[in-house]
Amino acid sequence: MRVAVFSTKPYDRTFLERANGGFGHKMTFFEPRLTSETSSLAGGFPAVCVFVNDILDAPVLERLAEGGTTVIALRCAGFNNVDLPTAERLGFKVVRVPAYSPHAVAEHTVGLILTLNRKIHRAFARVREGNFSLDGLLGFDLHGRTVGIVGTGQIGAVVARIMAGFGCRLLGCDLYPNADCEVLGMKYVSLDELLAQADIITLHCPLTPKTRYLINAETIERMKPGAMLINTSRGAVIDTKAVINGLKSGKIGSLGMDVYEEEADYFFEDLSQQVITDDVLARLLTFPNVVVTGHQAFFTQEALQAIAETTQRNIRDIEETGRSENEVTSRRIKGKL
Ligand code: NAI
Repeated sequence: MRVAVFSTKPYDRTFLERANGGFGHKMTFFEPRLTSETSSLAGGFPAVCVFVNDILDAPVLERLAEGGTTVIALRCAGFNNVDLPTAERLGFKVVRVPAYSPHAVAEHTVGLILTLNRKIHRAFARVREGNFSLDGLLGFDLHGRTVGIVGTGQIGAVVARIMAGFGCRLLGCDLYPNADCEVLGMKYVSLDELLAQADIITLHCPLTPKTRYLINAETIERMKPGAMLINTSRGAVIDTKAVINGLKSGKIGSLGMDVYEEEADYFFEDLSQQVITDDVLARLLTFPNVVVTGHQAFFTQEALQAIAETTQRNIRDIEETGRSENEVTSRRIKGKL
């Protein structure tokens, strides 16, 4: 199938071309994100391949349909950027990569926890300046601390397993308890109870209408004072302005985030020569107890290989049979969420 690949970075091209060997798709790589301004690039391509910050709202979908596109292959797990009802109305097949490496995201999550707790980001900079003082670097033992995991699916379950290894007490909040987590001793509680008890809160639920701004001024009030908050799910699961207020008041002790609600204009690009005009992001970067990474939690060799292989297979399955086990439909999603 002819595929227009959007938001292409050199590593995407390398892994997608390598995985294409047995499939023989004709892939054309475009660097820009898919937006209403760039959607005409997809004209005449039966399939588009997109990533987390490509926009697939109603106007873009209409343009793609007019240009003859029928398949949308997401090379990610989340699909919050697709207007699914409109996609279905226009007859698109939407496929995603539901699982590639939960380990990649879970390990990055734990990296953020360790970095923030032991202030490794500050120690790194300090030691390079010849400052070997320990003032301000005091951490706590993870052993015995309570970790609250919101969303205990594939990634949340791996985080649970790793944190159990540190000797943490595990609390979970999910619509569906995960037996693998219960075996680790996880106790399922309400979100309120989790917020009240957890020393570390880590978010691994998808972005849905129900989880948008799950962490807001009210829920922050219910947190244990000084709690660490980690978000590697989707930016809009937290109300970033409310989180900044929580950091300023000390209610939130530290913040690790790999995703940001307004990340699309910044993440994945080298903007080091430019001024950051997003004042919320700029403010976040001033806190000593905040670590921001640019949506890199997925970024391991294993994950990129699995994403590329599943994406090529998804497109082949739709081309040959009109079906894919990785198809996203609003019916299936409603069933799950
Ligand atoms: P998953 O579908 O296996 O697990 C998500 C879990 O969240 C499910 O158990 C679901 O029941 C639960 N959930 C849904 N609504 C909830 C709610 N209102 N409250 C509590 N739990 C709720 O998904 P997976 O693979 O674990 O990924 C989770 C999310 O991580 C993805 O949706 C995506 O947004 C994000 N992600 C981020 C990456 C990164 O690079 N930062 C890479 C991959 C995924």
